Amino acid sequence: MLSADKNRILSQVQRGTRMGELLRRYWHPVAPVLELTQRRVKPVRLLGEDLVLFRKPDGSHGLISRRCPHRGTDLGIGWVDGDVMRCAYHGWGFDSEGRCTSQPFEETGPSGGFRGKVGVTAYPTTTLGGLIWAYLGPAPAPLLPDFEPFTWEHGFVEIIMTELPCNWFQCHENSMDPVHFEWLHQNGNAVRSDPESPTYVPRHLSIDFLEFEHGFVNGRVVEVPEVRPTGSFSSTNDVTDGGILSLWPYTLASGNTIEFRVPVDERRTLNFTWQYSVLPDDVPPGRQDPGAIPYWYGPLTDPATGDIITSHTGNQDFAAWIGQGTFADRTVEQLGRGDKGITLLRRRYFEAMRKVAQGEDPPGTVRDPAANVSIQLPLLGKARYTQGVPREVFEKKLAARKKNGLLGIGGFWAVQAGRPSHLQKEYDEIAGVVRKAPAGSV
Ligand code: FES
Ligand SMILES: [Fe+2]
Repeated sequence: MLSADKNRILSQVQRGTRMGELLRRYWHPVAPVLELTQRRVKPVRLLGEDLVLFRKPDGSHGLISRRCPHRGTDLGIGWVDGDVMRCAYHGWGFDSEGRCTSQPFEETGPSGGFRGKVGVTAYPTTTLGGLIWAYLGPAPAPLLPDFEPFTWEHGFVEIIMTELPCNWFQCHENSMDPVHFEWLHQNGNAVRSDPESPTYVPRHLSIDFLEFEHGFVNGRVVEVPEVRPTGSFSSTNDVTDGGILSLWPYTLASGNTIEFRVPVDERRTLNFTWQYSVLPDDVPPGRQDPGAIPYWYGPLTDPATGDIITSHTGNQDFAAWIGQGTFADRTVEQLGRGDKGITLLRRRYFEAMRKVAQGEDPPGTVRDPAANVSIQLPLLGKARYTQGVPREVFEKKLAARKKNGLLGIGGFWAVQAGRPSHLQKEYDEIAGVVRKAPAGSV
């Protein structure tokens, strides 16, 4: 249970708030690279700030505040002209440094305009893993951590975005909650497939967490006789063997997914799922072109019923977080031994906020370029992601998928509902599940 004050501090994202300042010490994903190849301008809202993202002719990006300083219209309705974002109302232009570079009408007058006196806020961007990232904090910006999954070559990567009507921190608390997997996902799936007599999975007996430079390893002991470090979430895993990871500042990494719970503002979270669908080990390795990694927007509700979707792992999580309300009320919760990861996480965030207030870097900050090359993560069962899943295991999981229709399981099926069929087809062709149609065939 937390005081109302502490609950509010955890939820805030605005500049000048304690958490808002902590969040401004990290890089944030804002859009897929491919999306900005298909459109040149995208309005975005991040940490409560309204911004416009645009692509320049050389393929790099600009990120500037969305309100034109002239008479305040939305730069998001403008267009890119050369290297500048041009306002649609009277044509003022702004470069990716935020400088005003043109004032077409003013320049016709005797003074030649007053470009040097006006400008907009601009933030640096970079790209990694098929995503465009932004940094909204003070200089010098830290490095964007180059985590190893971005360099893996035995999977098919796609990016899924879903906006959630709730605060980001309750989403992130989920990354320190091993017990929920047993109920929200596994037993929930058991009920969905056999509502009359579901078979519940073995219970969790204890949970454990190991802290490391970039976050926390989740561990668990479940009610099964043997330890099976296979990467299966239902198995016992000792934290020293690796596990599911909670990474600073709001990321869950399981191997087949990395989920970024990006604060849009205090009331909304844009969940980016970077899904790595593992391929059979006999498929030759090859990294996807990061500029061409496909993306899609995952639906939250079923259009036929209006109900929130709960068929897939990711959607089940969304339903639980949204179910906590726009802001989880931590003043009335009843925590038990299953919540020790949650209390640890909160404590570490309060410590990190104190560090930032004292002018120090928070945890997970990377500043050494030599150390920022495919940063190794203590993930469980990593070999299947780095080397591919053995063909016979793949075939077994495929047969199970076809038989029971359970989705989001096995690391090679969409973790969220709504995967476009062309992506499923593309994956199945690469994996050798279906034969690729010869060129020119209908
Ligand atoms: S409001 Fe943007 S140029 Fe006038
Ligand atoms: Fe979950």
